Amino acid sequence: MPANIVIVGSFNTDLTAYTERMPRPGETVNGRKFVIGPGGKGSNQAVAAARLGAQVTFVGRVGQDVFGDLALRTWKEEGVNTDFVIRDPENVTGVAPIWVDDSGENSIIVVLGANLAVSRADVDAAARAIAQADVVLTQLEIDYDTVGYALKVAKEAGVRTILNPAPAGKVAPETLALADFMTPNETELEALTGKPGAPVEEAARSLLTAAGQTVVVTLGARGAQYVQRDGAALVPAYTVNVVDTTGAGDAFNGGLAVALAEGKDLKDAIAFANATAALCVTRPGTAPSMPRRDEVEALLAAAH
Ligand code: RIB
Repeated sequence: MPANIVIVGSFNTDLTAYTERMPRPGETVNGRKFVIGPGGKGSNQAVAAARLGAQVTFVGRVGQDVFGDLALRTWKEEGVNTDFVIRDPENVTGVAPIWVDDSGENSIIVVLGANLAVSRADVDAAARAIAQADVVLTQLEIDYDTVGYALKVAKEAGVRTILNPAPAGKVAPETLALADFMTPNETELEALTGKPGAPVEEAARSLLTAAGQTVVVTLGARGAQYVQRDGAALVPAYTVNVVDTTGAGDAFNGGLAVALAEGKDLKDAIAFANATAALCVTRPGTAPSMPRRDEVEALLAAAH
């Protein structure tokens, strides 16, 4: 049986300009290339999980516009179940203008549109699918109230939950307490804890308020550090040739969700997620750059 994952989250159309360097405020620079493609943290994580072999159900909203068509086409190609996706009649599909420089670094603006209309009722409509899932994964590109509600519905059904608190924002403690796993990067960790400059382990530990919780802090090229009540460790990254870091966090979360749903232990699950992220950054784009299962297995095997 493949891992069964429900993602309550966002879709954005990524409008990506590749440039030698980022423009400074008020400056115009020449771009090398422009690409329109499927993105959004929730959808990227769904594509990653599907390519890794999971059965994935997406709960979200897109507009009745060409970008919404792109979302549906993408999910169909990737085998993602869209039974609980709504074509919102009032809001446009989310978009994300992105800049990527020659070092692979990115800057993103999200205009969330229909994503912000994903509601408690949308989650209720998917309650049966959620109850049957091995893992429910959500992020912060939809309304925060809906994020908390999705985690609550999953927890009440005894389903493991992952909150990827991205992009950075301040989340209610009651919502954080519903996440079995929290997966911030360092910027998001600071936003959650309000402790700029605090050591990663100390800041992550301050988020542990409920029994059995784990914080996994993604540290880019260094790997990921997990922190639990009674332990912490760094799981190192894989060294690769970086082309475009956009979507690396999404690859990590898709990989982590699949590995945990398959019953891997925590260190192996994080290594699997690190390998998924490593392969993602070797290619341009977000959803299109997600690796397939055999590529991840090959990287893990080569590293041993
Ligand atoms: O994490 C990368 C994603 O962030 C992009 O696909 C963009 O749409 C924004 O949501």
